[in-house]
Amino acid sequence: MSRDTLDSSAPAGANTMDDIAATTSAAAATPLLQARGLCAGYGDFQALYGIDLQVNEGEAVAIIGANGAGKTTLLRTLAGQRPVTAGSLAFGGQVMTGQPAHHIAGAGIAMVPEGRKLFSSLSVEDNLLMGAYTRRPGPWTLERVYSLFPVLREFRLRYGTDLSGGQQQMVAVGRALMANPRLLLCDEISLGLAPVIVRDIYRALPAIRAEGLSIVLVEQDVGQALKVADRVICLQEGRVALEGTPAGLTREQISRAYFGV
Ligand SMILES: Nc1ncnc2c1ncn2[C@@H]1O[C@H](COP(=O)(O)OP(=O)(O)OP(=O)(O)O)[C@@H](O)[C@H]1O
Ligand SMILES: [Mg+2]
Repeated sequence: MSRDTLDSSAPAGANTMDDIAATTSAAAATPLLQARGLCAGYGDFQALYGIDLQVNEGEAVAIIGANGAGKTTLLRTLAGQRPVTAGSLAFGGQVMTGQPAHHIAGAGIAMVPEGRKLFSSLSVEDNLLMGAYTRRPGPWTLERVYSLFPVLREFRLRYGTDLSGGQQQMVAVGRALMANPRLLLCDEISLGLAPVIVRDIYRALPAIRAEGLSIVLVEQDVGQALKVADRVICLQEGRVALEGTPAGLTREQISRAYFGV
């Protein structure tokens, strides 16, 4: 909330403890991330049409939707990797619309990209250290990542690409954590992995959330999304088709929003 907003909404001379408490709770209620009417695309092709998205401090929001619905484009736009063509983006109380990716990363948004995208010529440990390039102060260190995914300590000197798909995904998550983000964006972390490996990766989520991180996760497996998220958003052809809590949404609503039938 800006100073102007505060001033214009406060009665003259209002500076009692009650006013201060009200201001403090209003500040606490400010969402960590707020996208309004977000549009983005690739050249002449528009992929997102006016997305409204709010993520609160400590919240996990799942984005679901069919192939090509715009899930990856949405994450890339939030991370500043695709330009916002209309609408606005705010993070941590700062306007982020039009800011470059490195500025947004520095403010505390880290991405676990679709397809992991490890550096093939670097060891596991060096891949993890690459994540610390835009490091903010915080709890995540090599040690913490190794205790979250012990197999990575064992393989720390191997090349990233010599690992199994699941282990590579752990490196990609660990690399993003090394930046000590406030918001973690995860794009299809379970894609192509065996169920037992997916379970191992998702087991790390409570420990990550315990550090107060907010998470936006794109998940193809709707059951998995409903299990881990506080709120679910379904995209359809670049628009929000449905939004709700896992308990508040029916299967019928979800399949209608997912398939558009
Ligand atoms: N690099 C690109 N250049 C042009 N169009 C693109 C590009 N990447 C994606 N698109 C298009 O943008 C739209 C949204 O794609 P996006 O990758 O965001 O969807 P998605 O929901 O992540 O799909 P998937 O489930 O397949 O990962 C699609 O129509 C896609 O073809
Ligand atoms: Mg995608």
